Amino acid sequence: MTLLLRNLLLAGAALALLAAPALAQDSLAPAGRWTAPRSGAASTPPMGWNAWNAFRTEVDEDKVMGSAQALVDTGLSKLGYVYVNLDDGWWLKRRQADGRLVIRTALFPSAAAPGGETSFKPFVDRLHAMGLKAGLYTDVGRNACSQAWDLKSPNLPVGTALEREVGLEGHLEQDIGLFFSEWGFDYLKVDACGLAEYGPQAPLVSKLGYRPRPVLIPRKTPQQDRSGEIEQLYRQVAAAIGKASPDGDHVFSICTWGRGDVRAWGGQVGNLWRTSPDINGKWPAMLRSFDSVATRALYARPGAWNDPDMLFVGGGEFDQNHLTEARSHFSLWAMSSAPLLIGYDLRGAPKALLDIWGNADLVAVNQDPLGNQAVLVHHEGDVQVLLKTLSGGRKVVALFNRSAEPAAVTLTAEQLKLSPDAPVALRDLWTKTSAQGFTGQASFDLAPHETKVFEVAGAPLVKDGVLLSEIPARIHVAQESFWPAPEDGFEGPAGPAGRTGGAQADFSPYRTALSVGGQVFLHGLGLLANSRLEVRSAGEFARFSASVGVDDASTSRAGTVRFLVYGDGRLLAQSKPMRAGAKPAQLTASIKGVQVVELVAKASDGAAPAAATWGQARMIR
Ligand code: GLA
Repeated sequence: MTLLLRNLLLAGAALALLAAPALAQDSLAPAGRWTAPRSGAASTPPMGWNAWNAFRTEVDEDKVMGSAQALVDTGLSKLGYVYVNLDDGWWLKRRQADGRLVIRTALFPSAAAPGGETSFKPFVDRLHAMGLKAGLYTDVGRNACSQAWDLKSPNLPVGTALEREVGLEGHLEQDIGLFFSEWGFDYLKVDACGLAEYGPQAPLVSKLGYRPRPVLIPRKTPQQDRSGEIEQLYRQVAAAIGKASPDGDHVFSICTWGRGDVRAWGGQVGNLWRTSPDINGKWPAMLRSFDSVATRALYARPGAWNDPDMLFVGGGEFDQNHLTEARSHFSLWAMSSAPLLIGYDLRGAPKALLDIWGNADLVAVNQDPLGNQAVLVHHEGDVQVLLKTLSGGRKVVALFNRSAEPAAVTLTAEQLKLSPDAPVALRDLWTKTSAQGFTGQASFDLAPHETKVFEVAGAPLVKDGVLLSEIPARIHVAQESFWPAPEDGFEGPAGPAGRTGGAQADFSPYRTALSVGGQVFLHGLGLLANSRLEVRSAGEFARFSASVGVDDASTSRAGTVRFLVYGDGRLLAQSKPMRAGAKPAQLTASIKGVQVVELVAKASDGAAPAAATWGQARMIR
């Protein structure tokens, strides 16, 4: 951590104490069960194509159908790229007589129906007949993003202020019914510009006549996000989708760009949630998107995915003249269990790009049924190491060079959560060749911006068991603490714009090494105190153990934190109240037959914002 960031953190602590929301103590009571809900059809990250990065609002039916046909013809659809998603720009207006949305038939001729009606049913039917699925875009407020950001577009909604209100607000059930029941869409992305850009002071209101709407997402002051209200609005959308798509065969994509504390509720409301501002064709924008998910592995699981935005492979600094960058971008998304939505005009795509999207090994890494997002296990200088646990006891590691200079990295077996005494074998998933194996550690050279991805095999570090940071998809962050974080607006490895880094695998919430009373843990879980984690042990394990204590990175030295372990709602073990600076306490519990282990870190008054560390947390069979 830079000194500057460290100082900012310390300065922020005082502010934090003032602003910390009062904690409902009940939320730390054990639930006795796994409470993360499951809905929709995203057991693995959604894959497909989206029109936005290629065409913005200059989209039309030929472009979309051409790319859809290419998905089929190139074999990409067979690999799993089946969603064909329209983004912003499809609408003409909202008809005032009955509130029905009207499609811009100049762009989508097949939507013209008798009597001046419009319908996407023929378009959706055609995609379905090709073996594909169809996605659409809307906004949770009254107005969309293009109406604020693409002012020169020829394809913005037309008419009076009310006719230009194409977003869901005020028409929720009607629109959702139209999209899912009448038109037959399978996927809906719900943007949030309607909550961000149309405040009473906005020029959009005074100059362009849009109706003002209270701002819930003030762009420049994330600490003022009205998170509860934002969550409520998205919950209403989820309920409406549930009604219109009772068979659950739908995907709900939340797009608040990481705002509104969405990491805490996105996975309970929708199937994926954006974690960052929009990606673009520049390397730093890709890094910003990646950084916003890289530290959030504990929030993803089957049915619920962090979304660093759609792929930019093929465009800008990721085009066919920048294949190293394009492969890196794709590797990072694959490792991060991110949705793989191609944002490129696929009509006539060069083979070099098709080979990237079509890397079946990387797609399999992304689509692994266990749904473990890769954990960022090492970060030094410009090099990052990501480790993803796959089904069948397999593991994949990515070595990523962020910089435009060559870099070297030393990889240790322990970083891979493998035994340092047994040989480690490597297979390169880009070159499809075996790489030089090693015992203990080995050094690798990375070209500028390069990512190497290896499947690794060796002897597990924890014999007959798992470290909890190996199985993020089996962990649900059921309760966590928030406060306005000093890193707001800080863009870099420590976290995206938004609030603190949240619950972390193998790091403290401040992205420092886990450390209690001077003892450093390479593995474990770190999050702010006043938190509760649910771990799906599923009766497979006999014993839980961890070394617990207040992390040395805590910005508060006051008060104490008590660590409690529950099994199916019963208290199994607890620590004494732990003070900052104290040596870690050892907690063990028998969890034979236990379905859900809960890990609670409870702060005494005044202890917030202490960071709680579950060092070496593991379950043994
Ligand atoms: C926002 C979203 C983008 C895209 C545009 C459309 O910026 O984050 O992904 O949907 O709106 O206007």
